[in-house]
Amino acid sequence: MSTAYLNGEYLPLAEARISPMDRGFLFGDGIYEVIPSYAGRMVGFAPHIQRMKNGLEAIGIAHNWTDEQWRELYNRLIASDGGGNLGIYLHVSRGADSKRFHAYPDPEAVAPTVFAFAFEIPPEPQADRTKVKPYKVSTDEDLRWQRCHIKSTALLGNVMHFQQGHAAGNNETILYNSRGELTEGSACNAYIVKDGKVITPPLDHQILPGITRQILLAVLRKDGSIPVEERVVSMNEVHHADEVWLTSSSKEIAPVIEIDGRPVGDGKAGPIWEAAQRLFSAEKYSY
Ligand code: PDD
Repeated sequence: MSTAYLNGEYLPLAEARISPMDRGFLFGDGIYEVIPSYAGRMVGFAPHIQRMKNGLEAIGIAHNWTDEQWRELYNRLIASDGGGNLGIYLHVSRGADSKRFHAYPDPEAVAPTVFAFAFEIPPEPQADRTKVKPYKVSTDEDLRWQRCHIKSTALLGNVMHFQQGHAAGNNETILYNSRGELTEGSACNAYIVKDGKVITPPLDHQILPGITRQILLAVLRKDGSIPVEERVVSMNEVHHADEVWLTSSSKEIAPVIEIDGRPVGDGKAGPIWEAAQRLFSAEKYSY
């Protein structure tokens, strides 16, 4: 059984308990992270921890953990779950107050709740068009909030969008704003490939600054053989793209082969995807 960390204690996940007055439970008032690891090696530890610190600062949760303490927590959870293909989920909520009141409580009186556990993720993707899991997606207008750059535990908007694609028999839902511009997936970042160039929406309040996105763009720019552009992408461009990709910590780069039942390009994972996944696989541990 999976081991969990909860407020200073390591224990079996099924035995972990929080108060129903925890603001994470009542309001979704918290920040989370998911860090992938394969055979004990984490991908993007430093940028993941930096994003978590940014999120905690943005919502005014003070914490005194050092990077080394976070690393020790992660290593211990990975070790107790036996290495393998693991995602580490980390969650910091504002803590349990004695009353339900919207305003932030006095941080002297209410300590944050820190919770973490490891869970199994798919094996490391291979840069092989014949073996990759292709994605089929739905599309929907992005009806989440205006602070999507904060990795908040309040995910009902994302959950409802994901469910729409899932109920239609698809793996994800790609979202667009009221101007018909691509934002991201309900749990991943999104890209198109056109005439050999990788294009993805710029970082702003409409999307999460994905760590897989950050590493992928850095890897592609360092290599230089595949041009990259961060700019607004219309849904019309998405529907006429040669390739469409999604990225997240648990899937790396996923090729999309069908959107709302229509094939993307020739309906197969493309050559630029294969080249990008190969570069990503070779470089991902150095970020
Ligand atoms: N999801 N955008 C959204 C809305 C996300 O929820 C995620 C990640 C991403 C990709 O971020 P990263 O590359 O840092 O994983 C983009 C995680 C994995 C989840 O909620 O489980």
